[in-house]
Amino acid sequence: MTRVAPAGSRLLQITDTHLFADPSAQLAGVNVEQRFEATLAAMTPWARTASGLLHTGDLVHDGSVAGYQRLRQRLETLALPGRVTPGNHDDRARLQSVFAGGRVTAERLLHLGNWCIVMLDSLVSGEVAGHLPARELTALADALAATDAAHVLLALHHQPLAVGTAWLDAIGLDNADALMARIAAEPRIRAVVFGHVHHAVDREVAGCRYLATPASAAQFLAGADQFTIDRSAPGFRWLDLLPDGAINTAVEIVAHD
Ligand SMILES: [Fe+2]
Repeated sequence: MTRVAPAGSRLLQITDTHLFADPSAQLAGVNVEQRFEATLAAMTPWARTASGLLHTGDLVHDGSVAGYQRLRQRLETLALPGRVTPGNHDDRARLQSVFAGGRVTAERLLHLGNWCIVMLDSLVSGEVAGHLPARELTALADALAATDAAHVLLALHHQPLAVGTAWLDAIGLDNADALMARIAAEPRIRAVVFGHVHHAVDREVAGCRYLATPASAAQFLAGADQFTIDRSAPGFRWLDLLPDGAINTAVEIVAHD
């Protein structure tokens, strides 16, 4: 695909970096720091034609401030306004304190052209599965009421629909019905972008696109009944958000050692 400037606004998604305070740490047989650096290097030329950046959770694996600080410093090198939202491995308070300023923040909204991106926080501390509490659903309703954007994209960590991988589908968003009802009632919501599943998903349901992206850390094997690591490479996603509400998108797989 092309790195030529898009007709709309180009958004980059990275997810599930799972960094540690110790940059030499391994997870599922890979050095997550090296894979993150390879992913970041691959994103850098794309960033020149992009307008925004999303990280959809599991920023760090150990909840460490050092991991958050290093991740923020490195993401800032893309020179894009960015938003992050926590995953089940994150520590919400530490994440929010580190991503409180600069270009890449834990704020709710990001406006790109005639699109509004709404970040949702599905982390339940101490749990692997996700949940959107009333606070998040109310914030979504308020954001939809307040924005005059023509199109809306939602981003969260946990998958709001079954992806066909049994063990992952048991630890998705446990109140997806509430989100799906909101999506059904709001045709401006064109897509939901998420992480957590550590493999690519691209599905359309009732006119809304559901997109997941490979982790920058290790991948999970799609379709597996039980936890299974997939030895494939890391990746990131680019999304061109077009003025008419259409989305062009693909995953870029990252060459790495
Ligand atoms: Fe993850």
